[in-house]
Amino acid sequence: MTLVELEGLTCGYQDRVVLADLNLRLDEGQRLGLAGHTGSGKTTLLKAIMGLVTPTGGVVRILGSECRQNGDFTQARRVLGYLFQNSDDQLFCPTVLEDVAFGPLNLGASQAEARAVALECLSMVGLCGFEERLTHRLSGGEKRLTSLAGVLAMRPKALLLDEPTTGLDPESKARVAEVLRGLDLALLVVSHEWDFLTQVTNRYFTLSHGHLHEAAEAPHLHHHVHSLGDLPHSHD
Ligand SMILES: Nc1ncnc2c1ncn2[C@@H]1O[C@H](COP(=O)(O)OP(=O)(O)OP(=O)(O)O)[C@@H](O)[C@H]1O
Ligand SMILES: [Mg+2]
Repeated sequence: MTLVELEGLTCGYQDRVVLADLNLRLDEGQRLGLAGHTGSGKTTLLKAIMGLVTPTGGVVRILGSECRQNGDFTQARRVLGYLFQNSDDQLFCPTVLEDVAFGPLNLGASQAEARAVALECLSMVGLCGFEERLTHRLSGGEKRLTSLAGVLAMRPKALLLDEPTTGLDPESKARVAEVLRGLDLALLVVSHEWDFLTQVTNRYFTLSHGHLHEAAEAPHLHHHVHSLGDLPHSHD
């Protein structure tokens, strides 16, 4: 099943065109990695999929339905787990547990169910014992992991992750990679870290001049392949 389809998408701000006649398809089970220079439009691309920026041309289809108005994206926001580039845009509840449980509660789970899912997802990202911590006092990396737990708690069909490893130490990064590899979900991951991308995705795109270009392999893979052991090839 095709989860996300962008057809001839054109998108920008004021007079600046950021995405120009761009095409993309994310099918069930696909794991796509996306890189591109600062300002190339990666975040804009994810926002367009979520209906958070309005295209000036082209079509966004989620699960086969064309999405134009804000209301058309309601379904998209239920099935796509979107990790914002900046965690401060994502976290808004006072405590970690409330924040992670918010999604499931909002989707109709009971208090007990939402709590159980939240605890499970916090444990997945290595944040056991963080339940009562105040979100605005967390470190950058802890905010990143809390946001990710919140996204996972919604049990999405696909994850759109904007720089998921920002602020994470190597250990947390490895844990996130392991979590993502263990999920049977479609992924669209934006990252400047090629070694991370090669661990969690198996097709690579770069965004430049408003277009996506598929790369045959992650360009910097050869420099890292020895230290990563057999990880990069496990999705082939
Ligand atoms: N709300 C906005 N209003 C005006 N211009 C914007 C807005 N948001 C982004 N831009 C511009 O659009 C271009 C693409 O921005 P975007 O955030 O999508 O890039 P990016 O590839 O995610 O960059 P980075 O790697 O730094 O996160 C940039 O030139 C940026 O300055
Ligand atoms: Mg960005």
